Amino acid sequence: VKFLLINGPNLNMLGKREPEVYGSKSLDDIVEHLNQLAQQHGIELSHLQSNAEHEIVTEIQQAMGKIDFILINPGAFTHTSIAIRDALLSVSIPCIEIHLSNVHAREAFRRHSYLSDIAKGVICGLGDYGYEAALLAAKRFCTN
Ligand code: DQA
Repeated sequence: VKFLLINGPNLNMLGKREPEVYGSKSLDDIVEHLNQLAQQHGIELSHLQSNAEHEIVTEIQQAMGKIDFILINPGAFTHTSIAIRDALLSVSIPCIEIHLSNVHAREAFRRHSYLSDIAKGVICGLGDYGYEAALLAAKRFCTN
């Protein structure tokens, strides 16, 4: 099985960026750990981090017919991007939406997501463990 991990804007700043909200691990740490977990479970994992909405849209389009599951932390695009929503709907690849922080315990504008209602599931507030949980949950969706 093939999974695609997408991390949106400012997630390249993890570790340095508001560590009290997002934790002290860098994105490289998180992705390296997730790659190991994926390998143990026979999952081929590819990854894109981008600060640009169009790059994320293009990556999703190119995943059509090649990727079984998308794990996505869209960053602030969660709250703004109809384009990412439409891209996910276009390719009909199931996805899990991930947030490190508990978006429901923060500013009101973070409570709305353009993706949650089309995602298989949503994980928030579990820190970097949310990525692991998402990978394992996605594996269950693919084998059941
Ligand atoms: C985030 C939450 C978003 O509201 C925010 O814009 C981010 C990160 C999270 O992982 O908690 O950039 O997606």
